[in-house]
Amino acid sequence: MRALAPSLGTMTRLDYTRDEHSRRYGRVARLMPEMEWDAHFDTVCAIEALKRERNAIVLAHNYQRPEIFHGVADVQGDSLALAGAAARSRADVVVMCGVHFMAETAKLLAPQKTVLLPDTRAGCSLADAITADDVRALRAAHPGAPVVCYVNTSAAVKAVSDVCCTSANALEIIESLGEPEVIFVPDQFLAAWVAKHTRVRIIPWAGRCEVHERFTAAEIEDYRRDTQAFVLAHPECSPEVQSAADYVGSTSGMIAALRQARPARAVLITECSMADNVSSAFPETEFLRPCNLCPHMQRITLTGIHAALRDLSPVIEIERSVAPAARACVQRMFEQTYRLTA
Ligand code: 13P
Ligand code: SF4
Repeated sequence: MRALAPSLGTMTRLDYTRDEHSRRYGRVARLMPEMEWDAHFDTVCAIEALKRERNAIVLAHNYQRPEIFHGVADVQGDSLALAGAAARSRADVVVMCGVHFMAETAKLLAPQKTVLLPDTRAGCSLADAITADDVRALRAAHPGAPVVCYVNTSAAVKAVSDVCCTSANALEIIESLGEPEVIFVPDQFLAAWVAKHTRVRIIPWAGRCEVHERFTAAEIEDYRRDTQAFVLAHPECSPEVQSAADYVGSTSGMIAALRQARPARAVLITECSMADNVSSAFPETEFLRPCNLCPHMQRITLTGIHAALRDLSPVIEIERSVAPAARACVQRMFEQTYRLTA
């Protein structure tokens, strides 16, 4: 790691100029007054300086606040893209602006790097829905059926699963196993979506995302009737919501679908920061904003990122007893994904 300059953590403006700050404002101008963006200037400067000092990279999930997503992120994307970026990066330090399982996945794929999660309370209701003992019990109840775990799980659960997947590749990963039945944990709604699109018998678990389960099909019908909006839903939503949507897919899938459809109006049935973040890439589309925020994603703030880079804490470590098996589970996903796209 590089030596630290004495000015570490002070509000230096060496790496980030007022011009650059104004240029970036264009991406959020529809979301916040310039005065609010300006209020972030000193913290963004300090983070940029620390990134350089620490040889650090900031990864931001699509659900992060706009000042993080557009202000300090080096890589933005869905959970699959961020995991890949952590593995490929040549940085010494990775700051995960997302939730705990994302930081764990980054650490599994980049064990030599220092992985920071600015607030370790940033959890996930899906990851909390299942334990390694639950997976063992499922295996005992369904001998011979392989276990596919959603990436939204702890490293301990990954360690007792065969392969992991994200919402972007769940169907492909499950089908690639060539088995008649597969245990899929922990999201029951993503399991229902996969089951609808495959002949493989899916044995689900009863986990749910506390954010996506709140959306209702009636809400979608109201949007459609009142605005004729193109409706895109995340597969963590209920099957009724999935059926009412025009498109169902991961956060990156939604962006690709928007690029193709270029609708006049769109509603993203997912965490609401996502619409804020992608709106600058689709200036001709009016985004309607049903606001269900993920309280865990919201724990990450600019000041938290600054403190994490300054103190090199909180550091994410994976227990030695589970790390090798959990890493193999994630790596199998990348091997399968590569084979499927090669
Ligand atoms: P993606 O895999 O689409 O990024 O979603 C992760 C997540 O936590 C959705 O709630
Ligand atoms: Fe977990 Fe849901 Fe938040 Fe995604 S939106 S991190 S699935 S609680």
